[in-house]
Amino acid sequence: MKKSFSKVNSVNGELNLTGDKSISHRAIIFSAMASGKSSIANLSQGHDIISTLVMMHNLGAGVITKNRSVIISGLGYKGFEAPSSELFCGNSGTTARLVSGLLAAQNFSSQLTGDESLSKRPMKRVIEPLMKMGAQFTTIENYTLPFSINPAKKLVNITYEMSVASAQVKSAILIAGLHLEDEAIVIEKDKTRDHTELMLGLPVKAEDEKIISSSSLKYYPAAKEYFIPGDISTSAFHIVLTLLTNNSEIKINNVSLNPTRTGFIELLKQMGADIRYEDVKYSSNEPYGNVFVKSSNLRNVKIDSEIITNIIDEIPILAIAGIFAEGNFEIRNAKELRVKESDRIKSLCYNLNLLGLEVEEYEDGFLISGEIKNLKITFESFGDHRIAMAFSILSMLLKNGGEVNDFECVNISNPKFEEQINSIIN
Ligand code: S3P
Repeated sequence: MKKSFSKVNSVNGELNLTGDKSISHRAIIFSAMASGKSSIANLSQGHDIISTLVMMHNLGAGVITKNRSVIISGLGYKGFEAPSSELFCGNSGTTARLVSGLLAAQNFSSQLTGDESLSKRPMKRVIEPLMKMGAQFTTIENYTLPFSINPAKKLVNITYEMSVASAQVKSAILIAGLHLEDEAIVIEKDKTRDHTELMLGLPVKAEDEKIISSSSLKYYPAAKEYFIPGDISTSAFHIVLTLLTNNSEIKINNVSLNPTRTGFIELLKQMGADIRYEDVKYSSNEPYGNVFVKSSNLRNVKIDSEIITNIIDEIPILAIAGIFAEGNFEIRNAKELRVKESDRIKSLCYNLNLLGLEVEEYEDGFLISGEIKNLKITFESFGDHRIAMAFSILSMLLKNGGEVNDFECVNISNPKFEEQINSIIN
């Protein structure tokens, strides 16, 4: 479905966002692994989350949803039941990779499948360490979905130095590790989002490298009451729209402020953005609070390679901020963008070229310079929710507005996107 967006002059108001996608996936999986009833309030409404919910249901967990809340009757982490058919992960890489760690430890076989985009994404990164732990996978040649996971004779301990900076891979190993009498140890050089270790309360040693361990001996799979803070990655779109429109000011309530996710806010602040936090609280060890944003003049700054992992999901919308900031916008060391829901370097460069900007594409990033020359453009979403939302925000900043093709993919992370934007437009 093609969607048109008109120029927005200013935004104003208050937002309550649906729950963070990464935290929601984990709350569902950890609740299904626990014994008894867990409640999860303010769950993400994204279709990716439905993939995880349906999967836990197909593995025997009880799932009752009511508006933004869900009650999960967990089976205890050894009580999962063999699924009666293949387990479909939809578009969700987080579902596929986290659940691989869980299924590797079960005494039944299962088959994971995904949609067209997910079936192209790399899975060797998660299969390889799990196989080192003794997991049994039957895969096709290039290790992509679909694949089968068969019962392991015995899972064994592992000390794994991460070869790609991936929270999903780290989480899969740690979740498999919860089934060991010995331990799974993950060593991270580039620190990725830490929801798994925080929410499970896993032992962490952090010096230059971060060392996280998991074991059945220190794991008490108790049912919990979760509150999922608002999705910080979703907030990036509202924040950038506010910064770039005149006389604008918004407050976003109860949004996740996990430091492994706030990199884009720190970067925007370095660029001159007026953003501040207030009233920081904690839920399941996860910090959250209210975020205040005001219109600001931005200038581009050098983006350090160390921050890339932290801002990886926000790069599409940061690039839009970069177009309107003084100076040129350049991202390097971000090759991981090529294996997200679309090849985001290609998707971004394609759309930026439509604007008549000067765009130089690199294997690990891109450089944007020059001025917008073309107005009234139809952008391509490439079926990628973050590309669709980024270019809808850009359309709202153009004199003649703009259009985005296949806009329905925003439902992957935020079906409420348009409703939220409409509620703050003046
Ligand atoms: C996620 C981790 C990141 C991120 C994705 C969600 C998670 O992926 O891009 O949107 O919830 O663990 P990688 O861990 O593959 O980098």
